[in-house]
Amino acid sequence: MSQDLVNAAIAASANAYAPYSNFHVGAALLLDDGQIVSGANFENASYGMTLCAETVAIAKANSDGTLRKIVAIAVAGGPAGQVAANDEAITPCGRCRQIIKEVADLTERDIPVHCAHANGYDTYLLSELLPHGFGPANLK
Ligand code: THU
Repeated sequence: MSQDLVNAAIAASANAYAPYSNFHVGAALLLDDGQIVSGANFENASYGMTLCAETVAIAKANSDGTLRKIVAIAVAGGPAGQVAANDEAITPCGRCRQIIKEVADLTERDIPVHCAHANGYDTYLLSELLPHGFGPANLK
């Protein structure tokens, strides 16, 4: 159930390393066999080197050899102690949308992204988050 994936994203945010922004983000990937792979944002004193939670989770799936098994993603964020507490959901940043596109194109799935907020979550397809995106097909 998608709420379980959202809960996994919220739980993953507890592992955020975000001493500079204090904005804790968790991401959770659902695999086609029901497994969940999670990630949290990982900031850096050289701010621009920060890794987002979605990117961390997808890189983790890649190194586990499970990239092709990803069927859905959940993301939750907010100030420490208030993750998913706002009325409005946080959605993946532009760079993460591009990284999710690689998964969507690779798997030929229009990946649903569940974005958590205080009253549940909103679901967007990757094609809604990144219309007319650049992808592997453009390199052919
Ligand atoms: N962040 C994510 O982890 N994912 C997103 O999609 C948006 C932003 C992180 C990056 C940074 O550590 C903090 O949130 C504030 O921008």
